[in-house]
Parts: sequence; structure tokens; C-alpha cells
Amino acid sequence: MRLRALRDHPDAFSSAYEDEGVEPLDFFARRIGTAPSGTFGGFIDGILAGITSLNVPDKLKMRHRAELAGIYVAPEHRRSGVARPMVEAAIAAARDAGVVSLRLTVNTRNVRAEQFYRSLGFRSYGVDRRMALIDGIYHDATMMGLELD
Ligand SMILES: CC(C)(COP(=O)(O)OP(=O)(O)OC[C@H]1O[C@@H](n2cnc3c(N)ncnc32)[C@H](O)[C@@H]1OP(=O)(O)O)[C@@H](O)C(=O)NCCC(=O)NCCS
Repeated sequence: MRLRALRDHPDAFSSAYEDEGVEPLDFFARRIGTAPSGTFGGFIDGILAGITSLNVPDKLKMRHRAELAGIYVAPEHRRSGVARPMVEAAIAAARDAGVVSLRLTVNTRNVRAEQFYRSLGFRSYGVDRRMALIDGIYHDATMMGLELD
């Protein structure tokens, strides 16, 4: 599912299919992670419909601030309502781990995703210019944050 996300939405992620497509299965197994960091699945009738990664830094001074990344719902499961509880589960896990501040970035052209994050309480705090270079075109990213305390 991770590779499908990268392949089908090159504009939506800072990681490239070309980089991760050559990785062995073990690479993706490691991404599932060990709490508090890890990948959360959104399931419909036991079928994996979406994924979200939570990255909590190990460093003592940075552990209060985590990042959500790689948020993806397979096209056939969009508008099904799986996206919200999946991301909310990652937010709850962050809160349980003592995280007080969550961050994510979203391509400024990705109105749908940005709207979704806004509806979860995220607010934009700036624009990261030229965050990615994809097929010769620079993409800006909106930086969004959610305070949990
Ligand atoms: C972003 C993504 C995960 C959202 O999942 P989804 O199943 O499409 O989302 P939902 O249909 O449950 O909608 C969730 C919210 O998004 C917003 N939204 C959905 N479709 C929208 C649209 N066409 N325009 C504007 N906002 C929209 C709404 O706020 C909606 O809340 P609501 O259901 O209360 O109206 C999914 O579209 C996706 O995987 N997109 C491709 C990859 C991607 O862009 N990932 C984000 C990288 S930062």
C-alpha cells in the first residue's frame, strides 16, 4: 500500500517511488515500527484501506513534538469514512506517548488533504517553499500543526 501511494500520488509525498520501490520487504516491515512511532492501518471488514505513519523522535528534547506522514487511503475506499478514525488513532497514540505538538506538511495544491487536516483541528503556520522537486517542477508545502494539550 505504501508503494501504491508513492506510485499513484508522486505530488503528495516527499518520498519517491523510485527510492522505496527498490527496498526489500523488511524495509516496510520496519516502517510498521515500534511504539510510540509506527504505521497505523485503517481497515474495512478486515481489509487494509489506508495507512498513516507517526514519527516520534527519540531525542529527549524533541520527544514532545511528533510528525504525521504518509497519510493515504486507497482510491476505492475514499469517502468511506475510514480516513478520520485512522488519523485520529495516530493522534490518540501520540497523545498517550506524551506528545503535545503534532506537525505535518501537505502540498499547497492538495486542497482535499489540507481540508481534511483542518477538519481534524490542524492549523497552517507557514509555507515551506520548494519543499520537493518533482519532474522538474518545484512544489511548496503548507506546514500544519495541532496542539494536543
Ligand atoms: C487525503 C486522503 C487520505 C483523505 O481520505 P478520504 O477518504 O479521501 O477522506 P474522506 O472522504 O473521509 O474525507 C475526509 C475529509 O476530507 C475533506 N474532503 C474530502 N474530499 C474533499 C474534496 N473533494 N474537497 C475538499 N475537501 C474534501 C473533508 O473535510 C472530509 O470531511 P467530511 O467527510 O466530514 O466531509 C485521501 O484523499 C488520499 O489518500 N489522497 C491521496 C494521497 C494524499 O494526498 N495524501 C495526503 C498526503 S499529505
